[in-house]
Amino acid sequence: MDFFDVVTTQRAMRRLKSDAIPEDALRRIMDAAICAPSGGNRQNWSFVVVRDRAKRARLGELYREAWGELMKVPYYAGAAKEPPDSPAGKMLASARHLAEHLGEAPVIVLACVSLDPGVKASLTTGASIYPAVQNIMLAARALDVGSCITTIHRFRDAQVKELLAIPADVETAALIPLGYPLGKFGRPPRRPVREVAFADRWGLAL
Ligand SMILES: Cc1cc2nc3c(=O)[nH]c(=O)nc-3n(C[C@H](O)[C@H](O)[C@H](O)COP(=O)(O)O)c2cc1C
Repeated sequence: MDFFDVVTTQRAMRRLKSDAIPEDALRRIMDAAICAPSGGNRQNWSFVVVRDRAKRARLGELYREAWGELMKVPYYAGAAKEPPDSPAGKMLASARHLAEHLGEAPVIVLACVSLDPGVKASLTTGASIYPAVQNIMLAARALDVGSCITTIHRFRDAQVKELLAIPADVETAALIPLGYPLGKFGRPPRRPVREVAFADRWGLAL
């Protein structure tokens, strides 16, 4: 696929088939991940690629519990009351579907980043793992595999780490289900460039 067709049609795909992803495709996706930048090129990332059925099922249970926690957060509780055909309503319905079916995705990737002793996670910690997460999603899109960056597993972080034997000093930055999508890829709804990109100084339209 042309790069710009990939990047302009990659969006959150949360309704996924349970069909397996070929080994070769998965290897290509992970190879894209490790081509991402990281601060000082430290590559302090790790990826737990979960295909084991029982572990996926358990991640699905934990994710569903996490969804329950998220729905207690006022912003999301409010969004849950939006009309089902509004943008927020549609997004939430899609996210709820994932919460109810995560364990059925054939692959679930935990993208992790390790911290130096005594250092707390910060914006720059995230900056050393989220480019790799985006590479995973773009590579997946190029291979017609759907994905979605998610983070609510962190409501059950200790249990997720225990399940996958992730060390205590490693942060689980994102959980990414991968699978062939039931729906179609397409351009995601975004604010236009003229609203968000400025020419030479803040506020001056590009
Ligand atoms: C930091 C971050 C955390 C996210 N966490 C979740 C999540 O836990 N669950 C989920 O279903 N989607 C999650 N998303 C996906 C967003 O809801 C999604 O990217 C956004 O609605 C845009 O979707 P679109 O590309 O289909 O327009 C997250 C996205 C980001 C960037």
